[in-house]
Formats: sequence, structure tokens, C-alpha cells
Amino acid sequence: MKVLVIGGGGREHALVWKLKQSPKVTEVYCAPGNAGIAQMATCVNVGAEDIDGLLKVALEKGIDLTVVGPEAPLIAGLGEKFREAGLKVFGPRRRAAEIEGSKALAKEIMIKYNIPTAKYAKFTEAGAAIDYIKTNGAPIVVKADGLAAGKGVIVAMDEETAINAVKDIMESKVFGESGNIVVIEEYLEGEEVSILAFTDGETVVPMVPSQDHKRVFDGDEGPNTGGMGAYSPAPVYTPELHETALRDILIPTIKGMAAEGRHYEGVIYAGLMVTKDGPKVLEYNARFGDPETQAVLVRLGTDLVEIIEAILDKRLAEVDIKWSNQAAVCVVMASSGYPGDFAKGKVIKGLEEANKVGIVFHAGTKGQGDEIVTSGGRVLGVTALGDSIKDAIDNAYRAVGKISFEGMQYRKDIGYRSLNR
Ligand code: AMP
Ligand code: GLY
Repeated sequence: MKVLVIGGGGREHALVWKLKQSPKVTEVYCAPGNAGIAQMATCVNVGAEDIDGLLKVALEKGIDLTVVGPEAPLIAGLGEKFREAGLKVFGPRRRAAEIEGSKALAKEIMIKYNIPTAKYAKFTEAGAAIDYIKTNGAPIVVKADGLAAGKGVIVAMDEETAINAVKDIMESKVFGESGNIVVIEEYLEGEEVSILAFTDGETVVPMVPSQDHKRVFDGDEGPNTGGMGAYSPAPVYTPELHETALRDILIPTIKGMAAEGRHYEGVIYAGLMVTKDGPKVLEYNARFGDPETQAVLVRLGTDLVEIIEAILDKRLAEVDIKWSNQAAVCVVMASSGYPGDFAKGKVIKGLEEANKVGIVFHAGTKGQGDEIVTSGGRVLGVTALGDSIKDAIDNAYRAVGKISFEGMQYRKDIGYRSLNR
């Protein structure tokens, strides 16, 4: 079987790594990929959002299965285009992926199907949004409705920050059309956990839980990023919480989507806040998380292709999905300046040594002659397993210690919160 993975970050490297292990897979292609992916798959220089270009590649190479990493192509309708062309694709169709593409839609579905989430209001005009903020006060959360590369959520600890966020989003249009609508939400306190689940639209099978570290600096300080690291399992996610999340969140979400004519198949990601009143949904993603996937897939004991085929045939209930009891930690090594402007083209050293200790998933890297250089904000996702979270942390940081590039920055406290529990 020939597989095409779409995307070029750490998540996609982890997907390629896992798919390569399937006895059913003969060849893996990745568009556009990165320098690490190029060591185990054939990279094709077509962007993840160039749907026509990707379709052409899939047809020309005789691809049997396409696995989509990022959300943008799903929300742009890749799922429909590929299926219409008779291709198998793992990822929801546009109408289902909109649960990530529109925060207002996600909130409407949650309210309609009684899925626990923060109270909210939706606005199409800045004036009304600002009045609402003044009435409700801070802390309060302002969200651009559409996609904003992970930057569309402003957790405002004071009114002025919230009002400025509304002005930036709705008047200055810093996220373009994504800011035509804003969602303003109650501020929730608690610990976050990411639940990724496989679903064929009927059966929902959660993966092992993971936790992401969104802030750039140690101790969860500084601006939000795409994710500076992840670990799995997440001790906050107890067996009781699992039951609640499955019964009150994941199953009603998939059933609700079906009732809305938005049949969902693929991976659904629920970002939860574990509050004193139980888990509440912060967001949905229509795909694997990044970097959660790196920490989750290294624990998956079942052939991913077998799971995907079962989903596409609507027989997920028949598959016994196994997970390793080991813990996994992924430490993201980023370029200096990230999540703001960052330098590129810095030579990365020590990758081979690091790969003897852990698994180095590449994110923003590219080949330059015989060398591998930085080419993105998040550069590497250095991942390791261990018999406990502590061992996994030690192993991941031992691997990190082998790597160097100019200006590298990474958090020193990935996974530590779970040690303090
Ligand atoms: P999102 O992209 O919706 O996950 O939001 C990004 C981050 O903002 C989340 O991971 C949370 O840390 C934070 N956040 C989002 N919504 C809320 C909320 N209602 N209360 C507190 N924090 C939030
Ligand atoms: N790590 C957060 C996300 O993938 O959206």
C-alpha cells in the first residue's frame, strides 16, 4: 500500500514514522515533509494547502491512502475532493472539519447537545462585543471565529486587553476574514488535557490522554505558541474523568455532528479544561494535535493502518487498540524569537546522537547540502519513552542535550506538572 501524508511538521513526522512500521505499507510519500521525514519517506514539494496539487500527486503516484495532518486542507474541502476522485482519505470532510474551522459553530453544537463548555456570546460587531466585555468584566476570553494559526485566542486578565483584542480582530482584521465573528467566553480555571479520539462516526475510541504546554517559557509564562512540548499519560485525567469525558463530551459530540448532517470520521481532538465542576470543552480540532501526537503515537501498540482502514469501513468497534504502559515525553526545540519572528538557516548538530537516546521528530528543518538547518519556529520534537513520566522526562532531556543549534530555546519543565501531583 502506498500512503501519502499531508503536512510537514512534527506531527507529520510522527505519522510517517508510525505508518512506516505497518506491514501493509510499501511506500510513504509526504507533501511537503521536512528534512527528518525525507530520511524515511519520499517528500514531494507541494504545499499542504494546494489541494489540486495534492490530488494530482495522489493520482500520479497511485496513492492508496492519504492521511491529512493539518486542519487547513480539511476545512478547505480536501476530504470531498479526494473522495470524489475515488481516493481513500483519513480526515473528516469539510462540513465535519468546520467544528474546528468555526468556533461559533463549535459553541452552537455544544450548547445544542448539552456538552459542557464555558458560557459565551457571539458578535458580528465590535461595539456590541466591547459592551459585553464591559458588562461582564475580566478575566474573559476573546476568540476569533475562524482559523488564526493558533493565535486567535486571547485570554484577557483585564478589560483593556480584551477590548484591544476585539479591536485587533474585528477592526484591524489581524486574522483577516477569520475575525468577522468573535466569540467571547467565560474564563475557566483548571488544568488542561488533550483528548484525541479515533471515530468512524459511530464508535468513538479515545487515545491515551496527553497534555500540551502552550506557553513559550517555563512555568507556563509568556505568549501562547503552537505547543512547546507534550507528555502522555496525563495524571489529571483519571479513570472517572475518562468515563465522564467519553459519556458527556466525545460521544454526544459525534452523535450531535451526525444529527447536524456533519458525519464525522477521522480524529477528533477535544481540548478540555478540568474545572472544579468537571471537564469542559475549550476547543475542538479536526485532526491530530501537534505536539501531542508525538507523545501519543509512540505509545500506540496497534498498526495505525489497521485502525484507519477500520474507520474508513465503519467497523472501528471491531478493532482492539493497544497502548504501551510506558510514558512518553516530547520536548520541542524552537528557534530564538519564536513565537514571534525567528531566525532560520541555523545548522543543527547532534541529531544522530540524540536519536540513539530518543526519537527526534523534525518540524521546521530542511536539508542544505550535507547538513540539516532550521527552517521554522518549532524545529524539533525530541521524544522519548520511559517506565515512568520521570524516566521519560530524563530520557527526553538527555536526547535534547545532544542537540545544538544557534539560538535554540526549549522549556526545561515539560512534564513536571505531572511529577508534582
Ligand atoms: P484554544 O485554541 O481554544 O484551545 O485556546 C488556546 C488556549 O487558550 C487554551 O489552550 C487555553 O489555555 C486558553 N483558553 C481558551 N479558552 C479558555 C477559557 N474559556 N478559559 C480559560 N482559558 C482558555
Ligand atoms: N497542540 C495544540 C494543537 O495541536 O492544536
